Amino acid sequence: MQGPRRGMDMAPRAPGIFDTFELKKGLVLRSRVVRSSLGGRMAAYDGTVTPAWRNFERRFARPEFRLGAIISATIAIDDKRHSPLEYPKLSDDRFIAPLAAGIEAVQKQGCRYIVQIGDPGGHTQTSLLPEAADSKSASRWFDGYYGYRNLSAPMSRAEIASAVANFAAAARRVQAAGADGVEVTASKGYLIHQFLNPATNRRRDDYGGSVDKRFRLLEEVVQAVRAEVGAGYLFGVRLSAADFNWLPLNLRLPPVWPPRDYFMGNTLETTLHYGEQLAALGVDYLHIDSGFGFVNPKGSPGRYPIEGLRLFANSARHLSAKAAVRATLLNLVPAPLARAVLGFGWRFVPAPNAGYARAFRSRLGGMPIIANGGFQDRGVIEEALASGACDLVAIGRPLLANPDLLERFACGEAPAKPCTFCSACCTRTAVLPLGCYERKRFRTRAEMEQKILEWSSDLRP
Ligand SMILES: Cc1cc2nc3c(=O)[nH]c(=O)nc-3n(C[C@H](O)[C@H](O)[C@H](O)COP(=O)(O)O)c2cc1C
Repeated sequence: MQGPRRGMDMAPRAPGIFDTFELKKGLVLRSRVVRSSLGGRMAAYDGTVTPAWRNFERRFARPEFRLGAIISATIAIDDKRHSPLEYPKLSDDRFIAPLAAGIEAVQKQGCRYIVQIGDPGGHTQTSLLPEAADSKSASRWFDGYYGYRNLSAPMSRAEIASAVANFAAAARRVQAAGADGVEVTASKGYLIHQFLNPATNRRRDDYGGSVDKRFRLLEEVVQAVRAEVGAGYLFGVRLSAADFNWLPLNLRLPPVWPPRDYFMGNTLETTLHYGEQLAALGVDYLHIDSGFGFVNPKGSPGRYPIEGLRLFANSARHLSAKAAVRATLLNLVPAPLARAVLGFGWRFVPAPNAGYARAFRSRLGGMPIIANGGFQDRGVIEEALASGACDLVAIGRPLLANPDLLERFACGEAPAKPCTFCSACCTRTAVLPLGCYERKRFRTRAEMEQKILEWSSDLRP
């Protein structure tokens, strides 16, 4: 019997988790799974990263864990707008050296490091003292869920120009720190997303009023960042494929017309158009999630995390009347009722953004696409990669629960205690140390506490 003739009858093998991937010419990732952004209080008060941050990131990078790359937490580009307190900043050159030391520690282990930069704009959740800067956004609106300022305030043209310059300067610092690439977040309901979303961008100047005008801030940021880092440097954009403005039950006031813009925000049709423009502007890859704001059931599927949201709301209640009322209401409403009303639409869906990623990948043929959210099951990850929905999969919470997820897969196993997608980590991270707070995953509370406190320590295993 004759075997298949080499190079003629053999169909190309579908990509798998442990295959390498060239994200940009010469920049090869050792696997198809990357760690998604996981922000926590790992900086000094001024925003300088601490050894806790370096230890935390370095742990994910271990060779046996086989992650292709780590994407950093959203690092703040604006000196005033924290993202949030004690999170890292890149608004000044003094932040470069401490960041570089951590990046080198990751890279030494064969893992790539991409720094995500962003500006929370009018959704800045917390601050030391109330800051006028924290209300700055595309337009004026009231949002009962996100941000602590009573009302957002439209940015002047000078403020927009300064935000663009901040992105470019931060990108230069990312490159100077030796990272393998820079990613701009145009997602998570952050400033750029506030300009893209028709419910939060009510402007009638060059930066709002039509699909293309809403894109203008992102366009200027992309041009400025590319000019700063040069054509050869890896540069990606995290983009929300669909906004779902009404989730979690939270509609901004006053309403906008038409209702589709108000309730849904941008849908795939528009974001694919944005994707085409980003490709034309020379962006190297898109990192696709969905939803507007953070935590959001579309981007971070799970069970409505009422306990954590209460904790967070309480921690910011001193900052404004809105924050105080929000905290009081969240504390008063019984948890089952809050889950039923505010948690409408919150349920776990595996890989909710794989379909969106597929749409981008087929429309933008050739541009690498990362799919984010709801990946843990090996079969789901393999299916997304093998079926061509995406080139890379980004994982957050399941890796926080089991950083050795890929090592387990390589041994033919699944994690003994998988992530339950409870989102307790998300809602606690701005207040408490970053770690897994799912009590069910630990034998005792003491064990959970010890694991959380160990995460950022210098211990080897
Ligand atoms: C504790 C925590 C912190 C996060 N911090 C960030 C962040 O700084 N920037 C960001 O873009 N996404 C952040 N995310 C969102 C994750 O990157 C990811 O998109 C989300 O958790 C969904 O993926 P998953 O289902 O794999 O967890 C965070 C998520 C968690 C759980």
